Amino acid sequence: MSLPWWKKAVFYEIYVPSFCDGNNDGIGDIQGIISKLDYLRELGIDGIWLTPFYRSPKVDNGYDISDYFAVDRDYGTMADFERLIAEAHRRGIRVIADLVLNHTSTSHPWFQEARSAKDHPKRDWYIWKDPAGGAPPNNWESFFGGSAWEYDEKTGQYYYHAFSKNQADLNWTNPEVKKAMFAVIDFWQAKGVDGFRFDVINFLKTSGKFPNNPYDEKGEQIHRFDKDQEGILETVREICAECRRRPEPFLVGEVGSEDLQILKRYSGKGLLDAVFNFNLGSMEKFSVKRIFAELKRMEEAYTDEQTPTLFFSSHDMSRHISRFGRPPHEVETAKLIATLMLTARGIPFIYYGDEIGMRDLYLDDVKKMKDVQGIAAYEMAIASGKTEGEALKIANERGRDKSRSPMQWDGSEFAGFSDASPWLPLSDQSVHVEGQRKDPDSLFNHYRRLIRLRKAFPALHAGRYRVLRERDGVIFYIRSHQEEKILVVLNFNERSVSFPAGDFLSEGSEWLFPGERRRIRPDEPLKLAPFEGVIVKI
Ligand code: GLC
Repeated sequence: MSLPWWKKAVFYEIYVPSFCDGNNDGIGDIQGIISKLDYLRELGIDGIWLTPFYRSPKVDNGYDISDYFAVDRDYGTMADFERLIAEAHRRGIRVIADLVLNHTSTSHPWFQEARSAKDHPKRDWYIWKDPAGGAPPNNWESFFGGSAWEYDEKTGQYYYHAFSKNQADLNWTNPEVKKAMFAVIDFWQAKGVDGFRFDVINFLKTSGKFPNNPYDEKGEQIHRFDKDQEGILETVREICAECRRRPEPFLVGEVGSEDLQILKRYSGKGLLDAVFNFNLGSMEKFSVKRIFAELKRMEEAYTDEQTPTLFFSSHDMSRHISRFGRPPHEVETAKLIATLMLTARGIPFIYYGDEIGMRDLYLDDVKKMKDVQGIAAYEMAIASGKTEGEALKIANERGRDKSRSPMQWDGSEFAGFSDASPWLPLSDQSVHVEGQRKDPDSLFNHYRRLIRLRKAFPALHAGRYRVLRERDGVIFYIRSHQEEKILVVLNFNERSVSFPAGDFLSEGSEWLFPGERRRIRPDEPLKLAPFEGVIVKI
C-alpha cells in the first residue's frame, strides 16, 4: 500500500512577514519566499505551511482576515502566489495554507454588514447577545485577555470574540457561513494549495447556550463552554469532506489543547489527517521524563489511522533552543531535539530559523512590540499597578514577537532578510544560514543529514515503535517497518553514557548517524557523548 505523500513529508512553517523580503520594504513576502525555495530544497523540505497571507488589517498579523480571496498587499499579488505554487511544485515542494475559519476581521465586509442593523440578513453570521444587566452576557474571557464580548453601541448588543476584539467569531451553526467558507476552500484548492492548516479549529462551535466558565485553583478560567463543544466533530467532518473532493489534501488542525484525549478526537477516518500535538510540543520546561511520557502516551492513544505531529516551536511560542537549552549546551540540546523530531513517530514541522538555532528576541521597549497578545499583557499589567519595567517583562513573556524575528540569512546589517530595516528587530545575529552552510558540524547540516536519513529509511517515516523506553535520562526506541529496524538512542545527560546494545544488534547492523556510515559489531557498546543521539540500523 502506498503512503499518502504527507506521511513521508517533512514540513517547514514559514511565518510569512519574517522569512524573506523580496521588495525591500522591511516586510517578508511571497517573492522573498520564492527566492528561498532552493534553500528549502537543499534542507530537504517537502511541504511548507504558510501563515495567513490574505488581505488583513493585521491586528493579529493576518489571523484577522478582511478578504479571503485576495493576497495582502504587503505580501504581493495573486500572480506572485500563483508563481509560488508553480515554483514550489516544480521543486517537489507542496504548500499548505493556514486558514482561519473561526473568525474574521471586524473590517471584513461580512461583519460590517452584520453590525449595520439587528435585522440585517448577515447579523446571524456572527454571535450577538443582549447585555446582562448592563454587563457582558457572561464571564467568558478572550485568549488575549479581558472579556470575550465587545459592546456595539449602534445596535446595543455584544458580539463574541475568542481572540482580539478585532477578530469576531463566526456563527458556524448558520449554514450560510459554512457555504461561504466552503467557497474559500474551493478557491484556494483551485489555485493549487495542497492542504490546509486550520486555525483554532476546535473553537468553531459554541453550544448555543452561554453558561459562565468555571475557574481553576489559580483563578484562571477553564474554557469549558467555549471550545470543543458538541457538534464540533460533525462540522470538522464536513469541512474535511469538502476539502477531500480534491485528491489527497493534507489537513492538519490546530486544536488548542494540551490534553491528548481531546486532541486525538479530531483526527482519523473522515476527520483531520493530523493535529498539532501541543501535549508534547508546547512543554514549558525541559524534562526528559515528560517528553518520554508524552511519546509513550501518543503511541498508546493513536490508532494506525492517526498520526502524531512533532514540533517544538511555532509562531505562538518561544523557540525551543531558548526554552530548553542551557549554556553552554544550547546547540547540543537543539541538535538532540532535532534528532528526536526527525526520528520519532509523527510528522515533523520545523519552524523557520530553528534549523540554524535562532534565539528568542527580547524587546527592550514596548513601542517595538507588534504582537497583540504582548501589547495586551503590557496594558493589563500597567492597569493592575505594575511598573513599566515589570510590565515589559510580563509582555515579553506573554508576547509572541519573541519567535517571529526575521530569518537570518547572512552576516550583513539586516541579516540578508532585507535591505531595509525590518518590521521587527533581528534577534542575536551571530547565527545565520551562510555561516552554517560551510560548517559540517552546524545545526543546519545536522538537520539536513537527519532529513535525508528519515526519507531514506521507511522505518523512520512509516514505522511504529517496536520498543520505546527511557532510563536515566536516555530515551531509546526501535522503529520498524516490514523487515527494516532502526534503533535510536538519545542521551539527554550532560555526561557521556555507554549503552550495551548486544540484545538488539546483529552481524548486519549498520551505524547510520552521526558520522560516517559503517558496520557495527554486535558486541560493540554504543558510546554517546553528552546530549548526543545515535541512529543504528539493526
Ligand atoms: C492561532 C494562531 C495564532 C492566532 C490565533 C487566533 O492560535 O496560531 O497566531 O493569534 O489562532 O487566530
